[in-house]
Amino acid sequence: MREAAAAPGEEPVDPLGRTVKETQPPEPAKTPEPIEESSGISVKEVQEHEGIRTFIALADRYLGEIGYTEHGFRHAGLVSNISFNILKRLDFPDRVAELGAIAGYLHDLGNFVSRTMHSQTGAAISYDLLKDLGMTYGEIGVILAAIGNHEEEFGHPVNPAGAAVIVADKSDVHRSRVREKDMAAFDIHDRVNHAVEHSFLRVDAEARTLTLELAIDTELAGVMEYFEIFLSRMVMCRRAAEFLECKFKIDINGSQLL
Ligand SMILES: [Fe+2]
Ligand SMILES: [Fe+2]
Repeated sequence: MREAAAAPGEEPVDPLGRTVKETQPPEPAKTPEPIEESSGISVKEVQEHEGIRTFIALADRYLGEIGYTEHGFRHAGLVSNISFNILKRLDFPDRVAELGAIAGYLHDLGNFVSRTMHSQTGAAISYDLLKDLGMTYGEIGVILAAIGNHEEEFGHPVNPAGAAVIVADKSDVHRSRVREKDMAAFDIHDRVNHAVEHSFLRVDAEARTLTLELAIDTELAGVMEYFEIFLSRMVMCRRAAEFLECKFKIDINGSQLL
């Protein structure tokens, strides 16, 4: 809109007499997450639920049948721990960090139904499991949104737990995830995972950075190959880090690439 001339020292206004600030749409009010009422259900209780144990074991087994890397209790536990650490170190309330840990544990459970849309099926199936444990609707809502948004095809960081799960999930690249024993039969995912000897997500709360530190054996896979399959994941990590008001960085073999 055209601005009316302003007298020296006066703030310019539009023809309706509004300052530039007054013409801006208001900041959307941040709806507080509905978790004031805590059920107190812990990640340990979630891990011990029979249905959850069964479905994660099946998800890992069925993904193995179609040639995917490890997606079982190791991956679930690691993503759960990393999600918790991200939220705790960035000073989110304890309950938010615990919900992040629970979402991280459950995020890949839907793979036992099908790899396709596993984030959505996983969220839908987790509803009954979490209700059965006695969690509140508010807590379940936060967790299901985090599970349903963790894959790059359809996902967006929509709450802190979900943003933490995205970064934690994409950080789990390591040779221990490769099932194929015959290196000649490795696909690019196997090769890149196998080449990663060490991975660690460093959370620097003061600098507001989340840095994925990788040690890659470049004899086995080049850094370019890593980026070939991880580029879309890294874009998603950057968006998730921004949701947490952090910058996402990658350090490979001691050199900062992002
Ligand atoms: Fe997934
Ligand atoms: Fe995952």
